[in-house]
Amino acid sequence: MRKRILSGFALLGAVALAVTGCSSSDGSSDAGNGGGSGDVITVGFAQTGSESGWRSANTESMKTAFSKDNGFDLVFNAADNDPAAQIAAVRSFINQKVDAIVIAPIVEDGWDDVLKEAKDANIPVILEDRTVTASDDLYASWVGLDFKLEGQKAGEWAKETFTDPTKMVVLEGTTGSAPANDRAEGFDSAIAGSSIEKIDSQTGDFTRDGGKSVMEGFLQKYGVDGIDLVFAHNDDMALGAIEAIEAAGAKPGTDIKIVSIDAVHDGMQALVDGKINYIVECNPLLGEKAAALVKDVLAGNSVDKRTIVEDQAFDQAAAEKALPDRKY
Ligand code: AHR
Repeated sequence: MRKRILSGFALLGAVALAVTGCSSSDGSSDAGNGGGSGDVITVGFAQTGSESGWRSANTESMKTAFSKDNGFDLVFNAADNDPAAQIAAVRSFINQKVDAIVIAPIVEDGWDDVLKEAKDANIPVILEDRTVTASDDLYASWVGLDFKLEGQKAGEWAKETFTDPTKMVVLEGTTGSAPANDRAEGFDSAIAGSSIEKIDSQTGDFTRDGGKSVMEGFLQKYGVDGIDLVFAHNDDMALGAIEAIEAAGAKPGTDIKIVSIDAVHDGMQALVDGKINYIVECNPLLGEKAAALVKDVLAGNSVDKRTIVEDQAFDQAAAEKALPDRKY
């Protein structure tokens, strides 16, 4: 059963309506005036960084949804994949007395203290994209993707596709992040009992450069003939792996097969070109849902504790059909 909450921040919405004042464009004013009809809502958004094509699409979706036209004053911070810097950004939003905070948490652990600080300051927190291990009493709502299911879908494709003994290497996402943890778990459970052997697994930090250099290391260690399959936790690392495989004189998608997650434009193009073999989508367009959650929470409406956005999966034919209409 889906949990529903009547947010403890309902009170904030009521109080906020009674407060007059205005928020400045840098969000540094005494905010706390949001959530009401026509008032500008100041929102601090702590983004992970700019590690991937997926992240760029997510940032754009958030900036569009939290626009001035939609009644928001967005204070944006990208933490360059540094968990300590991201927590510092959230503390700074609390000090600025923003009306609400949205976080795309880089890693799952380490959030308890700062989330308690936000709660004590009566500032509701909405998580988008990734999850945290802290108690769900400490945030109002989360909107994101089922990362475990994404990994599972990728693993099911691999299990069906590879029936002979297969040597696989894995390009992991950021260590400690929800998508890296959950995709690994979903994939591993799906390939259990199959002919696929995971011979190595290292983090490429969700970046193209990271994927390329880890793949170069794998190719040096095992040789082109020693690797049959790459599971990349995102498209950017798969694209980096493609560069490394081509530099080693082999054909990605043919000599070494690749399965990845995201379905961003460059990944889908590589799938159409036959350089990636299968992609499970991870939808980055979460802005509208996150903005609606912020408005509801500040207005004191009950909201779902968890909102999962559905993902599709693509083989080459499906990618060819979908690519012209993709929004990211
Ligand atoms: O949290 C979602 C993941 O983060 C995406 O799969 C990846 O590309 C991004 O960096």
